[in-house]
Amino acid sequence: MSPFEGTLVVTIDGPAASGKSSTARQVATRLGVRHVDSGSLYRAVTAARLQLGDPPELWTERSVLDAAARVTLVPGETTFEPRLDGTTCESAIRGEDVTGVVSLVAKMAHVRAWVNATVRATSAAHEIVVDGRDMGTAVFPEARLKVWLVAAPEERARRRVLQRTGRAPTAVELATETADLEARDRRDREQTQPAPDAVWIETTGISQDEQVGRVVALAEQRR
Ligand code: C5P
Repeated sequence: MSPFEGTLVVTIDGPAASGKSSTARQVATRLGVRHVDSGSLYRAVTAARLQLGDPPELWTERSVLDAAARVTLVPGETTFEPRLDGTTCESAIRGEDVTGVVSLVAKMAHVRAWVNATVRATSAAHEIVVDGRDMGTAVFPEARLKVWLVAAPEERARRRVLQRTGRAPTAVELATETADLEARDRRDREQTQPAPDAVWIETTGISQDEQVGRVVALAEQRR
């Protein structure tokens, strides 16, 4: 029997700012299971490596893996949280410096293998809702439910600015954010693929509540 068949694993994948993490967090809460954000691990490894201060073009995969050894994924009440040197690092991993180079780190095969193994280990003893780019393909191909979230780049950019500033974006902000997201989509394209049996949810024009409700209903059917 596959290790995933016994416990509930729901994967939520999609491009940058498609609402994966916020949806996954709320779905996990409603199902009473833990949320795992795989992107937060790539971010924590990047933040650890940035602390050495040398330019990213010079980073070797070995040195990034050494940085990964300082990152742990710790179960909390409702999530698995990444820690850097044993300390919470949520604000450090969300900065522009990390977002700008995280895709470079995510290209490294051994780093991907380390993240995948770390994420996979969480499901050994816990039911989880996990979000990322390749959770339904590379990490949990036998997950009970796989969701692929999609939204137009402008819609994702609008939400991102709204989240950051608390107001609607200006035309310039919208254009800049859309271009940034499209550039990150291109850099991440290789690993950002829907599983063949994923359920697609187009989120443009539906509310967050509705989105969460649809995933919860599907998960409950399959539990
Ligand atoms: O999800 P988030 O945007 O925080 O992820 C940060 C970066 O981590 C992505 O831009 C991508 O390069 C990488 N990532 C990945 N595979 C995942 C999750 C994230 O390559 N499963």
